[in-house]
Amino acid sequence: MDNQEIIQRILDLKEQRNAVIVAHNYQIDEVQSIADMVGDSFALSKYCASVTQEVIVFCGVKFMAESAKILSPQKTVLLPELSAGCPMADMVTPEALLEAKKQFPGAAVVCYVNSSAEVKALSDICCTSSNAVSIVKKIPEQEILFIPDQNLGSYVAKKVPEKKIHLWNGYCITHHKITLAEAKKIRDLHPDAVFLVHPECKPEVVEFADFVGSTKQIIDFATKSNSKKFIIGTEMGVLYKLKKDNPEKTFFLMSQGLICPNMKKTTLKSVLNSLREMKSPVEIVEEVRKKASYGLERMLELG
Ligand code: 13P
Ligand code: SF4
Repeated sequence: MDNQEIIQRILDLKEQRNAVIVAHNYQIDEVQSIADMVGDSFALSKYCASVTQEVIVFCGVKFMAESAKILSPQKTVLLPELSAGCPMADMVTPEALLEAKKQFPGAAVVCYVNSSAEVKALSDICCTSSNAVSIVKKIPEQEILFIPDQNLGSYVAKKVPEKKIHLWNGYCITHHKITLAEAKKIRDLHPDAVFLVHPECKPEVVEFADFVGSTKQIIDFATKSNSKKFIIGTEMGVLYKLKKDNPEKTFFLMSQGLICPNMKKTTLKSVLNSLREMKSPVEIVEEVRKKASYGLERMLELG
């Protein structure tokens, strides 16, 4: 079967199943091209909570599909590739978080959505990279335990110096490995380009950039900007939309290493199999889901 045939079968099955297909900005081009909605973690959470379809095919990684299920328990949420996880999410376990909460009893736990449902269930509020600063500013607590991304946490701490923020030691394996030397090298090659980075990059790389934002914020910034050249400091999947929507502009990836292997697991074939066999449905123990929904819903209200 060629891609055109696969796409036609996906569209037919989507209709039959009363399904919607959503994709994260890091998905491969073909998957982004067939999705009903492509976005960052925050936009996808909001969209999944608002759709009327009974089935959501979530092309992304596990914590994202879990968030959709937490917010819409009555819907069937399918993750086409069950092994598509996020190593950062595994860097905080419920057991370790319970220990840390004992160490900082007065701190509110602000949990980046890149985390498991069990960890969210132990947190006070969730955030994404697009709203972390505003969430930390808006909550009444002055002391915060920010989990699991140390880099996003450092960025928030710089932007909200009036609050005391304890950092976890998690990080994204894709963004964290980019060094300041690499960032400087590419800027030297393209001195007239605007430098945009994701806050999962190391603090010194974030400091060096002209703009910091979520994947959607990076895409929107470059699209609205009058500049013609951009250095992109996040996973290469964003180049698909950037190039499609801005054919007259030039984009340079900060590093060729900016690839998330888990995001690349989902293919058109996985989406077809997922719809054909209804696999793999996200299941969350109801007690955990209810507790986890508190932090996500609070985020949607505030964020
Ligand atoms: P966004 O919320 O910016 O899409 O980021 C999610 C993510 O996993 C970044 O690595
Ligand atoms: Fe997780 Fe990093 Fe991949 Fe985002 S890019 S899903 S944080 S491993």
